Amino acid sequence: MTDNAQAPADTIYARLGGAAGIQALVDRFYAVMDELPEAYGIRKMHPDLPRANESLFKFLSGWFGGPPLFEQERGHPRLRARHFPFRIGPAERDQWMLCMRTALEEQVPDLDLRGAIHGAFEGMATHIINTEAPKPPPPPLVENELDVIDELARPGVASIIELGCGAARVARELLDRHAGAHVTALEVDAVQHARNLAEPRKRLQFIAAGAQAIPCADASFDLALMLKSLHHVPVPLMGTALAEVARVVKPGGQLYVSEPMYEGPFNDIVKLYNDEGEVRAAAQAALDAALESGAWTELIAGRFDAPRVFASFAEFEARMMRPSFADHQIDAAKLAEVRAAFEPHLGPDGARFRQPMIVRLLLRAGGDTAAQVAA
Ligand code: HEM
Repeated sequence: MTDNAQAPADTIYARLGGAAGIQALVDRFYAVMDELPEAYGIRKMHPDLPRANESLFKFLSGWFGGPPLFEQERGHPRLRARHFPFRIGPAERDQWMLCMRTALEEQVPDLDLRGAIHGAFEGMATHIINTEAPKPPPPPLVENELDVIDELARPGVASIIELGCGAARVARELLDRHAGAHVTALEVDAVQHARNLAEPRKRLQFIAAGAQAIPCADASFDLALMLKSLHHVPVPLMGTALAEVARVVKPGGQLYVSEPMYEGPFNDIVKLYNDEGEVRAAAQAALDAALESGAWTELIAGRFDAPRVFASFAEFEARMMRPSFADHQIDAAKLAEVRAAFEPHLGPDGARFRQPMIVRLLLRAGGDTAAQVAA
């Protein structure tokens, strides 16, 4: 079978005019490739144009619904694999498509047909690209954020302030890990602060205060920690809070900030009753503004995933929906809605989520250079 008489009339092959129409398109395609200075990059890849012409003609014959000449001679086309010997990136794809678009404009007056063929070529040409950078590995799953703090901020230093310490688990573990460390732990939630005071500990001082008004002297701390707490500072006070942190951190000291990202299945559930999209974006913007002010330089911006594990919906409700520091106005309808979103994640060992986190480590200006601290 070598002509259009044997191909169904509604194939692209037939609509293009069968073998003669395809040959004319292919001839024009390679002529344009040969002529256009913009296509010189891919022209160099094709030392033997007649051979390429014959191959493309035979392939298109079958691809467009006519006789499968290429397969009959060479087997399965496996076009992507056949192009592996050549480095084909977006620039090469664009050059190839420029030649093909020019040829199509000249050879195919039917705009619908031209559009359909162009779309098919574009899809295939993009599929053939083989120089794409490999996808970055997913962020690591970190069971204990102390490991991240230890690795990035090296907190074996004398004086640390934690803003928004919650139940002070991190503060206490910091002291376990670093015998030389002293921690000042601030918390605005009065209930939590009272609980913290009930469990005193050497080298750990609790203060009831927010980051926007830190009752400590200038340049008192080597390291400030804000773990998932910056977005809890009222948005209009975020800039003040970061200025306060800059005031109490020594020149050359560091600020470690981790914040949950506004994405992922866990966030999809939480946002049903507590949508933090705006405050989390505001927290990142406040950090950007603090950097622009010149008070800090950024040493590291990284990602990790934190595990969030709940044995049951009841546990999720108690811990996440009814914290002591906020009233999320949960009525029966809201509870049912959140439960319906949560329950599909429940397995035999509870519900396990990965919460994407962003970490930024800032260096207080005026001390050592960033390179010295990072070394
Ligand atoms: C994305 C840009 C593309 C580039 C840079 C490119 C480049 C090349 C090169 C250098 C060859 C070898 C030519 C030879 O020496 O014989 C080739 C072969 C071929 N290309 Fe492409 N190509 C591209 C896209 C496409 C597309 C979109 C198709 C089909 C829709 C296609 C179909 C073919 C066929 C059928 C062969 C012959 C394979 C063989 O003989 O084993 N190419 N291509």
